[in-house]
Amino acid sequence: MNPYRVIQISDTHLAHEPKFPLRNWQKLVVRIQQHEPDLVVHTGDISLDGVSFPEQLQQTKEWLDDLGIPFLVLPGNHDVGEFPETAGDLEPPVCEAACQRFIDCFGQFRFVTDIDGWRLIGANALLFGSGLAAEEKQWQFLENAFAGADGRHIAFFSHKPLYKDGVEDTSKPPRMLPKPSAERLHVLLQESRGRVIASGHLHEHRLKDIEGVRNVWAPSTSFVIDDVLSRPIGTRRVGFVQYDFEPDDVSIEVIYPDDMTTHIFLEEPGLYPDHQKAARAFLTRRNAQS
Ligand SMILES: [Fe+2]
Ligand SMILES: [Fe+2]
Repeated sequence: MNPYRVIQISDTHLAHEPKFPLRNWQKLVVRIQQHEPDLVVHTGDISLDGVSFPEQLQQTKEWLDDLGIPFLVLPGNHDVGEFPETAGDLEPPVCEAACQRFIDCFGQFRFVTDIDGWRLIGANALLFGSGLAAEEKQWQFLENAFAGADGRHIAFFSHKPLYKDGVEDTSKPPRMLPKPSAERLHVLLQESRGRVIASGHLHEHRLKDIEGVRNVWAPSTSFVIDDVLSRPIGTRRVGFVQYDFEPDDVSIEVIYPDDMTTHIFLEEPGLYPDHQKAARAFLTRRNAQS
């Protein structure tokens, strides 16, 4: 029997402008179709700015439909808003209205689906630590999803990683989940047959085994962050991740298509101009101090 193939894509940041994410997307669609996955999972930042421009969510849904392959999507901070504790002028905080707009467009903002030997669980990462009523409902959903796995292995999907190197590390939001939420998810994974944590958001790829769980950071399909802004931990190159699930195992491969271009954040005019301005001000301050 053939393995069940899942392709994880992340951080497409699609809109009509700037055009480069869409150019990569069009090449990606062809490549994904060649690999004939059973399912595509998008781990968020689907749109460039679906919070301010909800019509971008509808447009990206149409582009995803072009795949002609079943897909499941999870929201990123650019789709529904950022964690309240780190939101600011550049990114509004997550709110129920933005989450509802995401559901209205895609039908859901989390999922549980079973395949042979495995349960795939996806969560709306931006709800963690939000204090919104939807957060508590999501915890109930997750507790039930983990408890009902019925002996299956579990692969957990989320826009943001739980942590960098383990539950004890001190990485902070907004790069990772808030620590109390990461700890609670870590327990759920350890008390069940948690085998994979698949995330996006960092725009870099890394595969690291932590306490028996494969932590997979999916690369972006659109752009990477300049090394001068943050030290890379993994590989900064655009691509996607392929999972071949067997009933009792999974093989994981990152693929970097040669015809996709790795764009760099500060080198792309029109890509989040306000974020670029803040990043350049940060670099100026840092250079002045050194
Ligand atoms: Fe992103
Ligand atoms: Fe993100």
